[in-house]
Amino acid sequence: MDNSENIQPRRVLIASANPLFSRGLQKLFQEKWGGKAEIIGITANLADTIKAMEKHSPDLVVVDYDDKTINRTNILNEFVEGEGPMQIILVSLKGNGSAVVYDRQTLTPTQAGDLLDIPQLQPSLQKIGRLSGWTNRRRFALAAAIVLAVSTLVLFLMSRVRLLPVEASQQAGVVDRLFRFHFGAIAFLWSLIIVFMILSIIFFRRRKGDEGDGVHRRGNNRLEIAWTIVPLITVLAISTFGASNLAQTLVKDPQAMVVNVTAGQWYWSFEYPKAGVTSQTLNLPVNRQVLLRMTSRDVIHSFWVPEFRVKQDILPGDMVRELRITPTLQGTYKVRCAEMCGASHAYMESPVIVMDQAAFDAWIQEQVSAVTADPGERGAKLAQVNGCIGCHSSDGKDGVGPTWKSLFGSQVSLASGETLTADEAYIHESIVDPAAKVSAGFQPGLMPTNYGKILTEQQIGDLIAYIQSLK
Ligand code: CUA
Repeated sequence: MDNSENIQPRRVLIASANPLFSRGLQKLFQEKWGGKAEIIGITANLADTIKAMEKHSPDLVVVDYDDKTINRTNILNEFVEGEGPMQIILVSLKGNGSAVVYDRQTLTPTQAGDLLDIPQLQPSLQKIGRLSGWTNRRRFALAAAIVLAVSTLVLFLMSRVRLLPVEASQQAGVVDRLFRFHFGAIAFLWSLIIVFMILSIIFFRRRKGDEGDGVHRRGNNRLEIAWTIVPLITVLAISTFGASNLAQTLVKDPQAMVVNVTAGQWYWSFEYPKAGVTSQTLNLPVNRQVLLRMTSRDVIHSFWVPEFRVKQDILPGDMVRELRITPTLQGTYKVRCAEMCGASHAYMESPVIVMDQAAFDAWIQEQVSAVTADPGERGAKLAQVNGCIGCHSSDGKDGVGPTWKSLFGSQVSLASGETLTADEAYIHESIVDPAAKVSAGFQPGLMPTNYGKILTEQQIGDLIAYIQSLK
């Protein structure tokens, strides 16, 4: 049955920012298709066009996309989101009058089935690849080769910069193994990212005249599983590697020499308990493990000799922190405090001298014989290594605490209003229980209360003898 007479005319919308063009098209439609086409609207900008498409559902939209006023992507989005049959013709006057047609059809399932029989569509990406002779496999091979080359170069350059100080302990060897692994990983990951970024910019840049969108990919299970499992295994492997290295730095040597370390604001003091010697420098025999047993007098400090690599926080209270170091290289280094601990934190450092066993033994002998028989002299040294002199001067100037000069035997005014004589009993009490009788004019609670535990009775006696000698 021929019902061409009854066919509804096609409802046409013309969109162009150029009024001459619109009028020309309108005329063309009327002359050529007469009753078969009905112009239902002419729009000159994007918003009006989209509004007209929604409101009138035209059968055909003719879009002049030479003018940027009408953005073809927005028009196409509107087209894709709608339902029902519609065609869009994108016309370009500049491109030799060429046109692109988008057709939205409503099909029955059978018709749709026929449509899907069309042989595979080629994504535009592969087409470009074929044309330029670069398949994805060849791109990957090239990228892998460049990543390897750049990683090697970066690693080489990093090895030319002195990133770490000299390696002077057995524990440093273990730590540096981790560092080398880390540097390798950094060089590789940096190269991986930079090389792929640069190659992508080169290979996948927009070609001239390529106005199409990229290929849309809807997830890739194999890829997603791979990029979950590979980092998981990598992280587990690194943590195992790290843990086993940490364990190696903690290996105990039963023959280790013990040194008691005291940190305070702002000094270091090293006691060799076996020899009964206290020193302000840390002297160590080479190739023998030393066990540092460390406490703080006041705030948190941290023991760090960069050449030994390992580091340990030192805590106040009665907590002893341990650190094991086996020096392997003779020389003079420096222990620094690695925990912000107040005004002179930056200057809290002491020499660390690693010497051969014979020299070390000689040094200990020297220290032992330097321990004098005079209690006053011993007390002077105790006042130094225990940090007393930080608050109590010997020259008559009051500091945080009263000066010790001419203190012994003098009359002392207390905060309570009493007056008493500074005799041996009073000074002893003030050392072990400083809060008991506070001198007038001094703030209570500043002096550490643990000297009674740290010092032996003999050492307290030596300190009092020293104070007594300061006439
Ligand atoms: Cu002690 Cu910083």
